[in-house]
Amino acid sequence: MGTVVLGTGSCLPGRVLTNVELESIVDTSADWIKSRTGIESRHIGGKGEKTYQLAAQAAQKALEAAGVSAEELGLIVLGTISSHMLMPSSACFVQNELGAKNAFAYDLNAACSGFLYGLDLADKYIQADHSMKVLVIGAETLSSRLNWQDRNTCILFGDGAGAAVCGYSDSDRGLIGSNMRSDGSLGELLRMHAPESFNPDLIVEGNPGAYIQMEGREVFKHAVRAMEDAVFGLLEREKISKESLSLVIPHQANMRILNKLIARLDIPQSKVFINVSKYGNTSAASIPIALDEANSSGLIAKGDTVLFCSFGGGFTWGATLIKW
Ligand code: ACO
Repeated sequence: MGTVVLGTGSCLPGRVLTNVELESIVDTSADWIKSRTGIESRHIGGKGEKTYQLAAQAAQKALEAAGVSAEELGLIVLGTISSHMLMPSSACFVQNELGAKNAFAYDLNAACSGFLYGLDLADKYIQADHSMKVLVIGAETLSSRLNWQDRNTCILFGDGAGAAVCGYSDSDRGLIGSNMRSDGSLGELLRMHAPESFNPDLIVEGNPGAYIQMEGREVFKHAVRAMEDAVFGLLEREKISKESLSLVIPHQANMRILNKLIARLDIPQSKVFINVSKYGNTSAASIPIALDEANSSGLIAKGDTVLFCSFGGGFTWGATLIKW
């Protein structure tokens, strides 16, 4: 008995940027990108495309799949670090776009963990009020927040959105538990400054502009270790064996992180959903896009135990278990 996902949806911008095209933008090679990251292409927002528009399209599909109307939504939580405006939130833009006039809406900044943090929130609201329907979205146009001269970062990320409509079920299905974590002491390793202050007294020293900066090797090490800890901690707490997992949907950071994680978890790769080669790292959107692809291609059946895990800037990380 608990919080179930009633429907999923996703949306990718139409423009595809390949590794070969990146060769003419920065000093890199298609082979280097593929061998070091497993990424072959990513989707990039077209002219004027905004995070909330991708989010609203993913949400519309999730509502249709769930058979839930926009008016039935009580809450919209949108994980993102790439809104086109700081205020209003992208979640409020989505609310307006959908006509979800009975919902309250806000953005959640947990970088790549935004969707799992959002699911955790949705679960708490739904447990407190069983009639509540919550729309959880992860959406990004990270291409607007990259330094396209920095080959360490610009090759890794992509744009997109994924959404899930959650509600209560009195069956034996539902969200089993989640294990959400943060460590602000390591924030410097993966960061994005805000736009510069207009108050000269509040100018932040060393602010190069509002784009992603990263110490790649350090992030790599922490990401693998943190997701491993979160997963094993959660499985142990919920007394669930890894053998009983039907599917694992990890944050799609890059293939080398995923390979290391799979080895540490000692789970067959056939049980791990991977689509990073097509989309790159779409941050908060990566898990809900993967979830929608797995769900719509029939890889998840009712009663399956599905494990999610994420890691991102903050640092933020976590794991979630759902009996589907
Ligand atoms: N093309 C060609 N060469 C490159 C590129 C590029 N795009 N980027 C870096 N290099 C060069 C470096 O300059 C360096 O050259 P040097 O030896 O002459 O100094 C060489 O390649 C090796 O650089 P490293 O940074 O050591 O390469 P590494 O093997 O660690 O791979 C990578 C870099 C892919 C970024 C890796 O560190 C990684 O996967 N880190 C995790 C980062 C990540 O996924 N972050 C996403 C956000 S967090 C998350 O979602 C979990």
